[in-house]
Amino acid sequence: MSLKQLAIDTLAKNDRGGFTIPTAGLYPYQWNWDSAFCALGIATYDMDRAWAEITSLIEGQWPNGMIPSIIFRSDDPDYFPGPSRWGKTHGTIPSTGVSQPPVLATVVRQITEGPSGAVRRAEVFDAIFAWHKWFHDARTANGIVATVHPWETGRDNCPEWNIGLDQMEIAADLPPYQRMDNKHINPEYRPTQEQYDKYLTIVHFGVSIDWDQRRLTDEGPFLMADPNIHFVLLRADKDLLAMAKEMGKPAQVCDQIVAWIAKGEAATDYLWNEDLGAFTARDIRTGTFSTGFSNCSALCFYADSGTSHQRARTADNLRRIASKVDYMLPSWDPDSPDFEAQRYWCGPVWPQMNYMTAQGLAEQGEAELAREVRDDLCRAIEKSGFWECFNPLTGEGCVGSNFSWTAAVWLSWQHETKLEGVA
Ligand code: GLC
Repeated sequence: MSLKQLAIDTLAKNDRGGFTIPTAGLYPYQWNWDSAFCALGIATYDMDRAWAEITSLIEGQWPNGMIPSIIFRSDDPDYFPGPSRWGKTHGTIPSTGVSQPPVLATVVRQITEGPSGAVRRAEVFDAIFAWHKWFHDARTANGIVATVHPWETGRDNCPEWNIGLDQMEIAADLPPYQRMDNKHINPEYRPTQEQYDKYLTIVHFGVSIDWDQRRLTDEGPFLMADPNIHFVLLRADKDLLAMAKEMGKPAQVCDQIVAWIAKGEAATDYLWNEDLGAFTARDIRTGTFSTGFSNCSALCFYADSGTSHQRARTADNLRRIASKVDYMLPSWDPDSPDFEAQRYWCGPVWPQMNYMTAQGLAEQGEAELAREVRDDLCRAIEKSGFWECFNPLTGEGCVGSNFSWTAAVWLSWQHETKLEGVA
C-alpha cells in the first residue's frame, strides 16, 4: 500500500464522526491544534470532511471566546485527566480550562483559498476573531500574551518550562490521582511524576477559581511567555487580517487586528535571548529566560517577525543543530544537558513543528534549511511510519503510533509538492 493511502487510512481510523482523535488509546478526544492540522491534511482529498473538523472544533468554544485544548465529547476511563478532573468548565461541551496554539486562522486561510472559499471563511471568521481577542484580553500580562500551563503551549514537558515549574509548589491539597499515560506508553518517553503533580496543581487552582481566565493569568501558579504561542498567534493575526480585508470587514475589526499585530511585533523582542542567539520562553514574573534553542525558536520566520540580526543568528543555530542530529528539527538543543532523544518534548522531532518551521523558512527565502527540515521528517516517516514524534538521532518513532497530524502533514506536503510540480 502507498504511504499516501496509509496516511488517508490513518486519518480514517482516527475519525470519530466529524472530528479526528490524535491516536486511539493515548489520546481519545478532540485536541485543538491537532484538529487544525488534521483539516490541512484531509483538505487534500475531502474538503467537506476537512471543514467538519474545523466547525466541530469551534463547537467547543466558550462564551468568552476561548477554544479549549481538549473537547470531551465522552468520558473515557482510560484517559487522565478527563472531564471530571477539570470540573465545571464554561462551554456547552465539557472541556479543559486552557487553550492551545491558535493555528486555526492560518489553516482556514490556506484551505479556503480562492473565491469558492468565501462562504466558508464567513462561517467561521467571527468565532476565530473572538478566540484571538480572548488571547489578547484574558492572557495578556505586561503587554505579552502569556501562558498559564505547559499543556496550553502544546509542548508539555519541554525543558523551557523548568524555570516556571521550579518556582511552583505542589498543592498540599492536591486530590490523589492515577496517571493513565504511563499505562499506554513507556514512562521513559513521558513527563516525570513531579512535573505531572505540578501540571495537576495548576488544574486544581483553575477549578478553585471556577476557571476565571483573567484570574488564572494574574494569580495562577505559572506564568510564562511562549515563543510557540507568540509566533503562531502573530502569524494567525496576520492571516486573520488578510481575510478580514478580503471580506470587506468594518474598519474597527481591521483596526483591532492591526493593533494586535503591532503588540505582537513589539513582544517578539521580549523573547529574544541575545546570549543564545535564539527566541526562548521567559518567565513573565521574574524576566528569566529559558536556557535552550527549541523547535519553536525558528518560528520567527513563520510569523515573518524579528530583525535581520535575530533571523541570521537563528539560522546559524539551525545549521549548528543540523550538524549534531540525523533528523531535524529536535525539540530541544542537542548541546544542552537536558536533551533526551526519546523523551517527548526534550529532544524528539515533532511533525507539526517541522511543518510550520519549514513553511516559514521557505516563505522567507531560506530554501535550503526549509528543505532539510521537511525532507528529514519525510525520511523519518518513510523509515518508521506515522508516529507522534521521532528520535532525532535515529529516526525511530516515539510515543503514539498511527498518529493523525503526522499523516496530515505528510499529505499536505505531498499535495504542495505536486502543485509545485504542476506549476
Ligand atoms: C500532547 C502534545 C500536544 C498535543 C496532544 C495531542 O499533549 O504535547 O501538543 O496536542 O498530545 O496530540
